[in-house]
Amino acid sequence: MNHTIDRVRDHYRATGLVARLKSALAALAPENQTLVPQQLAGLDQFHTRGLAATVELAKLVGLTADTTVLDVGSGVGGPARFLAATYGCKVTGVDLSEPFVEAARYLTERTGQSGQVSFELASALELPFEAGSFDTVFLQHVAMNIPDRARLYREIRRVLKPRGKFATFDVVLRHGEPDYPLPWARTPATSFLLSADQTREEIEAAGFRPLVWQDDTEAAKNWAAQVRASGPPPSPNLGVVMGPDFAQFTANLGQNIAEGRLGILMAVFEAASINS
Ligand SMILES: C[S@@+](CC[C@H](N)C(=O)[O-])C[C@H]1O[C@@H](n2cnc3c(N)ncnc32)[C@H](O)[C@@H]1O
Repeated sequence: MNHTIDRVRDHYRATGLVARLKSALAALAPENQTLVPQQLAGLDQFHTRGLAATVELAKLVGLTADTTVLDVGSGVGGPARFLAATYGCKVTGVDLSEPFVEAARYLTERTGQSGQVSFELASALELPFEAGSFDTVFLQHVAMNIPDRARLYREIRRVLKPRGKFATFDVVLRHGEPDYPLPWARTPATSFLLSADQTREEIEAAGFRPLVWQDDTEAAKNWAAQVRASGPPPSPNLGVVMGPDFAQFTANLGQNIAEGRLGILMAVFEAASINS
C-alpha cells in the first residue's frame, strides 16, 4: 500500500513548481499584485471541465458562509480558493504531494485568501482531523488514485458532521480498460478505477445516502471535443504544473471518454446518522 502511495506521490512530484508558477504568472501580474482566483482557472482546476465543473458541484451541494469545507486531494488549491471566494466559507485542503501543497499555499497568498483557505500535507486515508470536524467534503478527481476505497470513504464519513455532505466528481470505468498515459497516471500502476455502480456501493457502504447522482459523461465528451478543436489552451495552463506531456494526457482522457472506456460521475451524498 505504501508503495502505491509513493508511486502516486511520484506522479505528482512537480519539482520546482513554485518557481515555475512564479515565472508563468509574471505574464498576468507583478508578484506584489493580488490576483483574483478566476485568473488562475487555466492552471488550478485539475479535473475534467475545469472551473465549470467546480461551479456546478458547489451549486448541487449548496454552501453558505458558515459551511466548513474540507477539500480532499486539493491539488494546487483552485477549487478551495473558488469556494471560499464565491461563498465566503472557510476551506481546508489536504494533499499527498508536497510540491502541490507548497504551490497551493503560494497561489493562495497571491489571491490574498490565506486567512480563509489553508492546506495541509496529508493522506486522504489518514485525515489529520477529529471526527465530525466538517460540514462538507469535496473530492474531485482523486479517488482513481486510491485502491482502498472503503477506507477512503470511511475517512471522509468520519470527519463529517452527522448529515454532512460529501460532494464527489470522479472518473469511472465504463467499457474495457483505458489507454494510458492519463492525467492521474502514466500507467495502470497508479490507477484504480471503479465503475459508477461500484463507486456508489463503496460510498453507501461507508455510511452515506445519495442526494444527487449525475452522469457527467456527455458534458465531458463535449468539453473534450472543444479542447481538441481549439488547440492548446492559452498559457498559463496545467502544463505549467504537470509538464509538457500534459497535453497528451488530456487528449488521451478525451479519447477514452469519446470511445466509451471512461465516464465521469458527479454526485452528492449525505452522511447517514450514526444509528441508521
Ligand atoms: C487530478 S488531481 C485533482 C486536484 C484537485 N482535486 C482539483 O480538482 O483541482 C489529484 C490530486 O489528488 C492527490 N492525491 C492522490 N492520492 C491522494 C491521497 N491518497 N491522499 C491525498 N491526496 C491524494 C494528488 O496529489 C493530486 O493533487
